[in-house]
Amino acid sequence: MNTQIAFAESRVSQLLKCQYPILLAGMGGVARSELVAAVSNAGGFGFLGMVRESPALISQEISSVREKTERPFGVNLIPAATDQDLLEAEIAACMEEKVFSVGLFWDLSDALVRRLVDHGILVVCQVGSVSEAVAAQEAGAALIVAQGVEAGGHVRGQLKALELIQEVSRNVDVPIVAAGGISTGKHIFDAFTAGAEGTMIGTAFIATEESFAHPYHKQRIVDADSDATILTTDFHINWPRDAKVRVLRNSVTNGDHGDPNTRPLKVIGNEEGRPIYLFSTDSPLRSMSGDFEAMALYAGVGSRLVRDIKPAAQVVHSLAVEFAEASSKSVPVNDDFENEPVELASSPCYAADFDAPSI
Ligand SMILES: Cc1cc2nc3c(=O)[nH]c(=O)nc-3n(C[C@H](O)[C@H](O)[C@H](O)COP(=O)(O)O)c2cc1C
Repeated sequence: MNTQIAFAESRVSQLLKCQYPILLAGMGGVARSELVAAVSNAGGFGFLGMVRESPALISQEISSVREKTERPFGVNLIPAATDQDLLEAEIAACMEEKVFSVGLFWDLSDALVRRLVDHGILVVCQVGSVSEAVAAQEAGAALIVAQGVEAGGHVRGQLKALELIQEVSRNVDVPIVAAGGISTGKHIFDAFTAGAEGTMIGTAFIATEESFAHPYHKQRIVDADSDATILTTDFHINWPRDAKVRVLRNSVTNGDHGDPNTRPLKVIGNEEGRPIYLFSTDSPLRSMSGDFEAMALYAGVGSRLVRDIKPAAQVVHSLAVEFAEASSKSVPVNDDFENEPVELASSPCYAADFDAPSI
């Protein structure tokens, strides 16, 4: 039980050299330089979502983050959803830019993890099962992100986040970061109680001013109720077959567009000349136009508690304060954001009092 560990003292904060072990998920399209810099500047740790992006864009985005912050950040890649030549070029760009950390997801490539580690890069692997967590640790991952089924976007495993964290923590020694459905500091506290030492958050950061998601997607998350999300394989173009995604229910998940595997492909949008197809894994971005309602509106179950579009720093700050309230700890708040440390009025709550909620 780790509930007495303050954020700043967690192994995750120490390894990632950040103030709070709050990681921005490397959401493809959404987590661009503006959001990554905002999260890292607020004391968290941002990952650029660079799946299938060109090496030129990766280098440009890395430079853009470095212009906005001196704090560390990482780059997220998804080998299984990327053509092999492009992946090699992406990896070369990350090595050339001497990125601090690379985050990987989906099929684990031991060889790739080892190559990155040999280049002095801190590797973070997101997993959906205990066996994957053990394999990632053996390959050299410094941190394991345990992703529960509550997560928005592609979902790897079948267990809920708290169950997976408990299982993984019995089997690996490296620090575990909780992902999936986390949108409050109380959720983070619950994850710490289960054995995590940090959190990786996607959905709550979509609804921020700095995210590259289209305003339509941000507003749909703000409007989501507790029954809003569904796990589906309907959005599949660009990814390995049968990969599940958690999205907001829409005309596609309602079946209004027929069989997702029919041909020919139908164009429903455009991103600077690139066609966006019905049933593709592209989510609505600022740079797109088209039928947003029919696109993949990724969202985790925690969307029901995201009620406003805020600056990302406010999201990081609120999570830290809520964690402190939940654990009755005093968390020193990032100087750039506020000068006063957070003092808590509430009485201490101990691990034994913990009543694991479904997050
Ligand atoms: C819009 C969106 C895009 C995502 N894209 C990626 C991605 O490119 N790479 C990745 O490793 N994970 C991606 N994920 C999954 C996250 O890494 C993480 O597991 C998830 O966001 C955690 O759950 P939450 O959304 O409930 O916070 C994405 C999630 C969302 C919501």
